[in-house]
Amino acid sequence: MTGKVYLVGAGPGAPDLLTVRAAEILSRADVVLHDALVHPETLALARKAQVYAVGKRSGRHSTAQKFISKRLIDSARRFDTVVRLKGGDPLLFGRAHEEIQALRRAGIEFEIVPGVTAASAAGAELGVSLTRRGVARSVAFVTPRSGVGERHNDWAASVLAADTAVIYMGAGLAEEIRAVLLDRGKGPHTPVVLVENASLPGRNVHRGTLADLPDLARRMGSGPAVLLIGEALETSIAEPAVEALLRRA
Ligand SMILES: C[S@@+](CC[C@H](N)C(=O)[O-])C[C@H]1O[C@@H](n2cnc3c(N)ncnc32)[C@H](O)[C@@H]1O
Repeated sequence: MTGKVYLVGAGPGAPDLLTVRAAEILSRADVVLHDALVHPETLALARKAQVYAVGKRSGRHSTAQKFISKRLIDSARRFDTVVRLKGGDPLLFGRAHEEIQALRRAGIEFEIVPGVTAASAAGAELGVSLTRRGVARSVAFVTPRSGVGERHNDWAASVLAADTAVIYMGAGLAEEIRAVLLDRGKGPHTPVVLVENASLPGRNVHRGTLADLPDLARRMGSGPAVLLIGEALETSIAEPAVEALLRRA
């Protein structure tokens, strides 16, 4: 008899952005392995579980990832309900693939519980829709980061192809992001917004243009942040201008 592993999204930070399904599973969990940014009130829902922090803020090392997968498998062989609690949505930039593969290979049953990703929380903070009729019909979730030995990551191509781009784990790479995007033809006046600590009391929003990006990044604190790029973020765009875009679409 083995238990079941749940890969659960904890959402962007605010404990009340957890799904009802996630809360129910946490309440009956025997073991919880969680990422660094999960809110203490969310962890408190796991009333009877042994709770272990396994995440680093960034750049988790591959041996550490293997160790997490092994702990999931070992826990499922000893307990009924094992939760791997990840920030945001587990299927976006969360190393879920490695854990899913390891669980499949070990023949352990698993279930994925989606969560609110940082991009959605950031859009909510800004009060803007990431898509906008006639202006933005595609959204890309991108990270410029890649690990040693991984294949080339042409993140800029995805940013250029999408009407709205949300860049994860990129706030520390503002100079590089600006340089690459300007070099590849993105306009210097393209609206950009950095949203730090979306959904949390320490939330911070820095608005500007692609040309200003490094200055905006310098004003940020040390919280997690996403960078949003695209015309849909331009809240002051006059409605007649939108109507003109719609007529052309
Ligand atoms: C390892 S990725 C995990 C993403 C997560 N799976 C998700 O769906 O949001 C961590 C990155 O997510 C973004 N992030 C997570 N929480 C955030 C928040 N509350 N506000 C802004 N960005 C956040 C930051 O870019 C951070 O560096």
